[in-house]
Amino acid sequence: MDSHQLGDNLSAILHTEDELRSRLAEMAREIEVDYAGNPPLLVGVLKGAVMVMADLARELRFHAQMDWMAVSSYGASTKSSGVVRILKDLDADITGRDVLIVEDIIDSGLTLSWLKENLESRGAKSVRICTMLRKPEALKVEVDVAYVGFDIPVEFVVGYGLDFAEDYRNLRDVAVLAPHVYGGE
Ligand code: XMP
Ligand code: MG
Repeated sequence: MDSHQLGDNLSAILHTEDELRSRLAEMAREIEVDYAGNPPLLVGVLKGAVMVMADLARELRFHAQMDWMAVSSYGASTKSSGVVRILKDLDADITGRDVLIVEDIIDSGLTLSWLKENLESRGAKSVRICTMLRKPEALKVEVDVAYVGFDIPVEFVVGYGLDFAEDYRNLRDVAVLAPHVYGGE
């Protein structure tokens, strides 16, 4: 699905498919250097991170294993509460392993800071975070993020895995959801 015709519900394209892919390639080069000879287990956070994971994993020039978690934070649909529930846990035992969490977006940071601590508490050797998007002005807790694709303004965005009520995940670009759709101003 492409966003050339935005329609009434999307107000702008923030990052095109091409921009996302070329930034991911740069991030992959950094990751290859940092983990040289020691590939991490890639842990994707469902469902938003599926596109980032698919593109990043294929961009990396090393053999990488992938695993997945699904988490949900209680609260309103466009805001994170920081109370996290595991809907699907990892299949792998991560004791002693280097783990790279692959995320679509960091907003308040509450989900990721919880997840990072959770994985560390299982005895992972290291846990780092890679995210395609981050909203620096929305951060409520400090999260150490090793790899960031793009910092974006505090707006609700969809596409490239990101949804609004499960729609728009297959949009190829990242677009801004018009505030009237979710009741914003
Ligand atoms: P926190 O606030 O814990 O939130 O960093 C992370 C999760 O919140 C969702 N989220 C968004 N989803 N467009 C979306 O489609 C957005 O602009 C957005 N901001 C936050 C997302 O699930 C993310 O993993
Ligand atoms: Mg997510």
